[in-house]
Amino acid sequence: MSGRYRAEASDGRRSRSVDMEGADGPAALTLDGWEPGSEVTIRIVGSGGSHRVHRIATLAPPGPELVRIATLSDLHLGSVSFGRPVALREPGVSVHHPLRCARRALADLVDWGAAHLFIKGDLVDSSTPLAWEQAATLIDESPIPVTIVCGNHEKNRLSTVDAFSEAARHGIELCRDVTAIDLDGLRVVLIDSARPHSDVGRWAPLLDATQRAVDVATPALVLSHHQPQRTPIPTYYPPGVPSPIARPFVRAVREANPAVFGSSGHTHRHRRHRIDGVPWTETGSPKDFPGTWTGYTVHADGIVQSVHRVSGDDCLPWLERSGAAALGTWRRWSPGRLADRCFGHTWPISELPRATAPAALAQGDR
Ligand SMILES: [Fe+2]
Ligand SMILES: [Fe+2]
Repeated sequence: MSGRYRAEASDGRRSRSVDMEGADGPAALTLDGWEPGSEVTIRIVGSGGSHRVHRIATLAPPGPELVRIATLSDLHLGSVSFGRPVALREPGVSVHHPLRCARRALADLVDWGAAHLFIKGDLVDSSTPLAWEQAATLIDESPIPVTIVCGNHEKNRLSTVDAFSEAARHGIELCRDVTAIDLDGLRVVLIDSARPHSDVGRWAPLLDATQRAVDVATPALVLSHHQPQRTPIPTYYPPGVPSPIARPFVRAVREANPAVFGSSGHTHRHRRHRIDGVPWTETGSPKDFPGTWTGYTVHADGIVQSVHRVSGDDCLPWLERSGAAALGTWRRWSPGRLADRCFGHTWPISELPRATAPAALAQGDR
């Protein structure tokens, strides 16, 4: 909707109305403060009287909140275009959309309260000195710790430098093989699934190390650039980890820790699956439609994933335009459903060691 407009929201008990003064193009708005589990109706009213209605339900938190973290993937710093068969470009701009959108996403996720940022690969479009300089600028601007694992683009054929050594030259240490980071109530495990000069992911050689990394008395969030394919042959682009490798891998990880949740990038889209009993999400890129970052709110009994659109009038006009990629199908393919993007997952607590069970559950309250 273009022109000046207003958002009116109500959960039946109370209402909020926000005027979007000066907005003459796409805009983003946060309407928070609703009770958990509320049904909220949002009317976007345009200056000419046109309106659109959205109905949403707020999520119920699984227990007290412990910590918030965020992920980004597929930033593709150094790129200047997006899409096929026609490459969309921004002639004449001084800062191209990958860096603009990444900066805006970083500011938004820090405002949201993320204590740690994890980047799930394709931080750069190719490993070149210029792209890594941009990456270093971005990481330097972050007030929170940033942990980075490679994607296929860090190791692609157009790369002119080695990702690990060029990143290190800028003081950035990229994760090798399998890396574990402990936060309040959660272990984050990053898998370096990228192999040189290939779009296909590698998981098989990292199985033992991943099993050991998730074998702890807390739930684990497993992050990998490549997605587990549900079939041996990829049914959409780009290919991930073929199912004959991915499914036994996920099963073995689940045997080591039943309270596990996985997420990948690479596909630049939003989907939610259950792979051999493990919830797994694919999440989008901040630089192409719809343009997102992902938040995880870690609770005592579970985890909530929320996908947030990158805000700002320096990004949203480009992000709207980029929906025209792939002959306009990108606009329908990438977002997925709301339930793919935002949902809560309760850990299978009964299978966790008793020491980690929250007191209320140990007392049989549920
Ligand atoms: Fe990517
Ligand atoms: Fe990728």
